[in-house]
Amino acid sequence: LWTTENIIDDSIARIRQQVGSDEVLLGLSGGVDSSVVAALLHKAIGKQLTCVFVDHGLLRHKEGDQVMSMFAENMGIKVIRVDAEDYFMNALAGEADPEKKRKIIGHAFIEMFDQESAKLTGVKWLAQGTIYPDVIESAGSKTGKAKVIKSHHNVGGLPEDMKLELLEPLRELFKDEVRKLGVALGLPSDMVYRHPFPGPGLGVRILGEVKKEYADILRLADHIFIEELRAADLYDKTSQAFTVFLPVKSVGVVGDARRYDYVVSLRAVETIDFMTARWAHLPYDFLEKVSNRIINEIPRITRVTYDISSKPPATIEWE
Ligand code: XMP
Repeated sequence: LWTTENIIDDSIARIRQQVGSDEVLLGLSGGVDSSVVAALLHKAIGKQLTCVFVDHGLLRHKEGDQVMSMFAENMGIKVIRVDAEDYFMNALAGEADPEKKRKIIGHAFIEMFDQESAKLTGVKWLAQGTIYPDVIESAGSKTGKAKVIKSHHNVGGLPEDMKLELLEPLRELFKDEVRKLGVALGLPSDMVYRHPFPGPGLGVRILGEVKKEYADILRLADHIFIEELRAADLYDKTSQAFTVFLPVKSVGVVGDARRYDYVVSLRAVETIDFMTARWAHLPYDFLEKVSNRIINEIPRITRVTYDISSKPPATIEWE
């Protein structure tokens, strides 16, 4: 019987057999797939696992700290955190083009991962959170004719000169199976069932040039939106929800003072496959509450808008 328990037992046996007493390296992103691989490998090979977590400074509110507390502190996994915010911000300075930003972030990510892993000795395996849909997607794009998918750094972005063998224990699994595995392995279900978050993170949710100042403002606004969605029991009813930073200024007024500051847009969609999506018809009262909180709590934001574009023609992300 193909139950979650069986999949776990089977994976653990296979991992142990493949790896033996070798050391394994894993790039931990905080996303579901790499998190489940970390938990699985930890259970299978314990101390033979080392994770490198590159924090690009484009993660959600407190996400980097959460990754460390969950994996390093709670689970006792060896995690090396690379605080690379400055590196990424410098690399991104002056660039406004969405696809170029993605490439810069992807390259910087590999650069940082490579640099850190080069310090480790005796590693033989590189583990990855590749899941079955990734395998299909990257196979498709090799034919050349396949649709141009936005550049990912999940698949095919390995440091070329690293002579490591690939370990991909989730390669045959679909997302829902991976999530079940995660819960069975003890990961918190609100983490395992979190909305998808793109590899380039807030880098593609800050329109145009990325700046630390913008990222800090956006993180706070997005946190309020997500917190309220959870509080109103709407989080699981939307497929993906987030906030976008618009680098334009708009006038507002607080008491007698005139404010001239930034605009954000809330985005929430319902979708099955993320290929098409309908904007989520969130209740007006809810939107009002979120908007009030954002404008009152974040002095640098004067205006909140709600995105009512469906896909197609609008994509889910703004870039
Ligand atoms: P779009 O904006 O193309 O998004 O409608 C569809 C889904 O893909 C995610 N997405 C990305 N994920 N790297 C990723 O890992 C990316 O560059 C990227 N761009 C979009 C998006 O969040 C949505 O779930």
